[in-house]
Amino acid sequence: MSNDELKRAVAEKAVNEYIKNGMIVGLGTGSTAYYAIKRLGERVKEEGLDITCTATSVRSEELAKEFGLVVLDVDDVTHIDVTIDGADEVDPNMQLIKGLGGALLREKIVAAASQSEVIIVDESKLVEVLGTKCPLPVEVLRFGHKKTKYALKLQGCDAKLRMGADGEPFVTDNGNYIYDCEFESIQNPFFLESRINVIPGTVDNGLFLNTATTVLVSHKDGTITKMGQ
Ligand code: A5P
Repeated sequence: MSNDELKRAVAEKAVNEYIKNGMIVGLGTGSTAYYAIKRLGERVKEEGLDITCTATSVRSEELAKEFGLVVLDVDDVTHIDVTIDGADEVDPNMQLIKGLGGALLREKIVAAASQSEVIIVDESKLVEVLGTKCPLPVEVLRFGHKKTKYALKLQGCDAKLRMGADGEPFVTDNGNYIYDCEFESIQNPFFLESRINVIPGTVDNGLFLNTATTVLVSHKDGTITKMGQ
């Protein structure tokens, strides 16, 4: 199976099994979440489901509307039953790194407000220790960002300002910059998170700890395995 087929398979399984009529659904961001949003649009149309959505990025909101879904601002929904989102790394305890797509802050706010957080990944995202395959994205205010970078580097990483395709710094939906922090590995993610979150200028970081209630993993042999509920 190609990478895209793996992403589509796991996204469709999540939408088919975890979304029920009448739910308020959080929509993730990224290439795997894309297939979940598409499948949800299909189910709403085919089955006439009554589903309200809230999105974790402008990109996902636009996509959802294209697929015919009703999307409300996160502050205009009473609660969120289930959010389906991707991840960049998943460790054996279901701890995650997210944010390579740049939507980590809204993803974290929506995840925190969700009763269930269903993470959909292909097997390439599985790691023994966080930080070994991808950098940790940290969203920072533009004001004083070079000072923030210096403080981030003191945590033992190489912090690189994320650049956009236009050669300018990448700007998030919230108007902030992202530093991609390359660690050799993150042995104690809870400790690191507490250190990063007290750095002035840091808005949030891509460690999603004790957030996922389920992780569905798509494997090259065609199987999909489940961690959690
Ligand atoms: C978006 O900011 C990220 O957190 C994504 O959820 C993550 O990067 C996974 O994206 P893919 O499904 O495209 O790999």
